[in-house]
Amino acid sequence: MTSTATTPWDIPADWPEPDAAARTLSVQLLEHIRAAIATAGGWIDFAQYMELALYAPGLGYYSAGARKFGAGGDFVTAPEVSSLFSRCVARSCADVLEQLDGGDVLELGAGSGVMAAAVLQELAACGRLPENYYILERSADLRERQQAHLNRELPQLFERVRWLDAPPAQAWRGVLLANEVLDALPVRLFGWNGTRVAEVGVGWGDAGCEWIERPAAPELCDPVMDWARQFGWQGDYRSEINSTLAPWLRSVMGNLAAGAALFIDYGYPRREYYHSERACGTLLCHYRHRAHADPLCLPGLQDITAHIDFTAVAESAEALGFGVAGFTTQAHFLLDAGIEPMLAAAMNGTVNDDLRHAAQAKTLLLPGEMGERFKAMLLVRGTVGEVSGFRGRDLRSRL
Ligand SMILES: C[S@@+](CC[C@H](N)C(=O)[O-])C[C@H]1O[C@@H](n2cnc3c(N)ncnc32)[C@H](O)[C@@H]1O
Repeated sequence: MTSTATTPWDIPADWPEPDAAARTLSVQLLEHIRAAIATAGGWIDFAQYMELALYAPGLGYYSAGARKFGAGGDFVTAPEVSSLFSRCVARSCADVLEQLDGGDVLELGAGSGVMAAAVLQELAACGRLPENYYILERSADLRERQQAHLNRELPQLFERVRWLDAPPAQAWRGVLLANEVLDALPVRLFGWNGTRVAEVGVGWGDAGCEWIERPAAPELCDPVMDWARQFGWQGDYRSEINSTLAPWLRSVMGNLAAGAALFIDYGYPRREYYHSERACGTLLCHYRHRAHADPLCLPGLQDITAHIDFTAVAESAEALGFGVAGFTTQAHFLLDAGIEPMLAAAMNGTVNDDLRHAAQAKTLLLPGEMGERFKAMLLVRGTVGEVSGFRGRDLRSRL
């Protein structure tokens, strides 16, 4: 990666300009990042930059009050596309809760709260309500929006929903859910030039944040050199690694004594993630429905994500005593969980409604949309048998 400076407002002419309030927030965030770089001696790793850009209190993308989800925001997630997605997730939850004869649900990173509301509604409809529906949400702003949404949509079940300030400190039983949360965790960046590994971080130059490379420390260098050999990289290669995935999973899943964790996100098994042809990594930014790969522009005004190395998720979970009970594409997950009969039942013969439902289902299922790139992974501890969503195509051998 070259060390070119990037001005935060240097955006293509056809992108919507941020308004004055958004610019003010972004400038304040940039000042905060500049101070962090100075305190660190002129360089921070990319994970620290991503952490500040997304979560700096009151200023980061997820901490400040911008719209984010849906047509008026920056990106659309599956629960925002259609409640059919969340109803399928609820079917998996219901199977686990039934096998445990009760338990709780814990949703991580609940966004606008739409999935929580639809999952609870479906669980109520199948007579499998959890004792508590916990939400662990990093963003104070989103937590307020979730509370408002659930109170408005589901007043009769609102008492069951509780917001946690930290992962459960006691052993608990039930289901942990996370849709598009792993991709929002900060990652480190590396570059490989055929012989040496560099860590790509962020410094401060005349035009603001700029890329700076440093020789990689052994904990980064060793796995990267391994992958370079194993996957036959040729020429320059750069990508990301989530160095804090294992401790993060331990913090959120460690006390799940019996039950299952369901992670849905975009990503690949390791050998596809670090395939020699994926030589530019998977970093992806979203600003007003424009996807691009420059995380230094529009700080605080765009989402920054990386795809998931699902092999790393499986390895970390196995080290915690979980088994990988399922790994499949989103399309196969939804089909096995019953999206087709749900869709048929939702069709009411009103042309506009039916076309809308059909278009939403296509977005969730088609390979060129969310169907293939998104994967569902089920991790279980204790005796958990068959779970809806994972009785169809089994991709575990690819991990
Ligand atoms: C891309 S959004 C997905 C939102 C929602 N799950 C959906 O599918 O619409 C990522 C969500 O994860 C939250 N988040 C990120 N890191 C988190 C963490 N370490 N713990 C809890 N929530 C987190 C963000 O604040 C946000 O709500």
